[in-house]
Amino acid sequence: MGCVLDGVPPGIEVDREDLQREVDLRKPSGALGTPRAEEDTVEILAGVLNSRSTGAPIVLFIANRDTDSSKYNRFRTVPRPGHADLTQLRKYGETVDLRGGGQFSGRMTAPMVAAGAVAREMLRTIGVQVAAYTQQLGRVDDPEDRTLKEVRRQARENPVRAADPEIALEMIQEIMEAKHEDDSVGGVVRCLAVGLPIGVGEPFFDSLEGELAKMMFSIPGVKGIEFGAGFRAAGMRGSEHNDSFLVEDGEIHTVTNHAGGVLGGLSNGMPLDLRVAFKPTASISREQRSIDLERMEDTTIKIEGRHDPCIVPRAVVVVEAATALVLADLCLRGDFIA
Ligand SMILES: Cc1cc2nc3c(=O)[nH]c(=O)nc-3n(C[C@H](O)[C@H](O)[C@H](O)COP(=O)(O)O)c2cc1C
Repeated sequence: MGCVLDGVPPGIEVDREDLQREVDLRKPSGALGTPRAEEDTVEILAGVLNSRSTGAPIVLFIANRDTDSSKYNRFRTVPRPGHADLTQLRKYGETVDLRGGGQFSGRMTAPMVAAGAVAREMLRTIGVQVAAYTQQLGRVDDPEDRTLKEVRRQARENPVRAADPEIALEMIQEIMEAKHEDDSVGGVVRCLAVGLPIGVGEPFFDSLEGELAKMMFSIPGVKGIEFGAGFRAAGMRGSEHNDSFLVEDGEIHTVTNHAGGVLGGLSNGMPLDLRVAFKPTASISREQRSIDLERMEDTTIKIEGRHDPCIVPRAVVVVEAATALVLADLCLRGDFIA
């Protein structure tokens, strides 16, 4: 796995250990995740000298070491329900590489997280911070409106990345229950970003919401995104939904943040507040209905192999990285980062 990060200004601190710490947060956690144990060692191949970006494209590389491709051949004939086997087979034909899920594997997010650590560093130079947590996991919901500070303090302290230790226990229970029943669960990751200046985003097609949505839908398993009140806004009155302006310590704020920090596709100075919905993991070990593509008839499939009963905890750092990448990119485009 790897990536090329172009456009990073010279002089940004790029410490391999920082990148590694972020990538390690994406690893499965004990009984809650897949037994696949990848080292995920991040190598910086180019673009960094003495822990500083040189201005040349940064090339990152992460080797796959703990591979077991033996279970994937079957999906050429009997595609997994909910996964991308059928669609990629039909798009690319017989030469397609289905091992590990091919280019539709969750592993595609490992280099994204490493790149996101560089983007975070770029954002740090202008005082922007990003933090995410698991707000909902299956039936367990965190109803509190958490602050970025709270999220930063708590979410990395428990394996499900919840913003509250009690709720974390309930979420762990929810995953264990699904696993026990040969099933899987999904959930919602909420991501906050503070310190954004007013005006980040490029009209018309590259709005802040548009770019973030496009990036989030690159993460495998994502089925929805909301900003602020999101779909709830449709049922609200204008008098309720409008965020009234106020001046606080000489700065423009709003009383509420139903807009999620975005007006007209541009950041409005309030915290960016987005929620990303993940579906339950497709690969479950229960018997399911599928089709035999050679015989063109109905059959069943029982998936073996090493899969996550819930990808949401691992996806939290991915959503943070994806957000940081979009924000850093739009800050460069809008000359907010020199
Ligand atoms: C970190 C991460 C790990 C994932 N692990 C698995 C997995 O073990 N098994 C699985 O079926 N899907 C897994 N997925 C999701 C699939 O890659 C995804 O559902 C599939 O490519 C189909 O794409 P779609 O769900 O976006 O339509 C993972 C996703 C992420 C972000």
